Amino acid sequence: MALDKKHTKLGVIGAGGVGSATAYAATLRGAADEIVIYDIAGDRAEAEGLDIAHGTMFAHEAQVAGSGDVEILRDADLIIVTAGARQKPGQPRLELAEANVNIFKAMLPQVMKVAPNAILMIVTNPCDVLAVVAQNITGLPTERCFASGTVLDSSRLRWLIAKKAGVSIKSVHANVVGEHGDSEFPVWSAANIGMVPLNDWTNEAGEKVFTDEVKEELAEQAMRAAYKVIEGKGSTNYAIGISATRIAEAVLKGEDAVLNVATQIRGRYGIEGEAALSLPSVVSREGVKRVLDVPMDEAEVGRLRASAEAINNSLKTLGF
Ligand code: LAC
Repeated sequence: MALDKKHTKLGVIGAGGVGSATAYAATLRGAADEIVIYDIAGDRAEAEGLDIAHGTMFAHEAQVAGSGDVEILRDADLIIVTAGARQKPGQPRLELAEANVNIFKAMLPQVMKVAPNAILMIVTNPCDVLAVVAQNITGLPTERCFASGTVLDSSRLRWLIAKKAGVSIKSVHANVVGEHGDSEFPVWSAANIGMVPLNDWTNEAGEKVFTDEVKEELAEQAMRAAYKVIEGKGSTNYAIGISATRIAEAVLKGEDAVLNVATQIRGRYGIEGEAALSLPSVVSREGVKRVLDVPMDEAEVGRLRASAEAINNSLKTLGF
């Protein structure tokens, strides 16, 4: 879709590992003309902004800066929210909800005052729950206030499949849907490599590679990937940073790209309540333009409903 060239401004809230990795990835990939980091820890935000800005000679020439003053977000087109408490080793994402709701309540009204036209992308966990919370706080519609969802989980799954099949990750088409968390699952029935359905993929000896056992193992590894990284280095940041950047590009460049972001999907697949969860969706300048109807088998629909229930229960406990 052709768009008039306009100055694009990306705001990142949170100068921790995830926020900084996002701003850095966005700078390297030229995701926006201006990239700003806001954190109540102002010295940290300023330092991260400077550290990234100092390398722009070798990247895309974005203006990059950080600050503890919310003014820095003024008139941002897209704001990626990464601020909040983070997972401890072994802790499920849903357990972070309460602490992060309070942070959102204090922060988001101020943010919307300086950037009333911004689209919000929630990365802070549990991101699906917090996207709905953020919608409630800001009054934004779901298409302009969504979560990064399972974009990253889908990349993790494709990486695992690519290694197993011995092909490029770019030739693997597979999606993780549902919650960005313990109840997520891959839609195996639609997964393929090139045009070969995954279930029919064979090795050179003609043996099927993706047996039920192997698929179960890969799904578990994709779901547990963050736990593994957290055990080793305390948190994840690079892969989520580049995943959030990829979504930001789709928005800021008006790409109409299909990505597994999380919005409220009320009524689809028999799902009730407010839950936001990930399904392949068309992402563009307006935010999430359309959620695609993905053919799923009965078991997959059951798992999607279970994912929605986990998110709805969390929302209820939080009073939303
Ligand atoms: C992860 C965090 C962002 O999955 O939830 O790496």
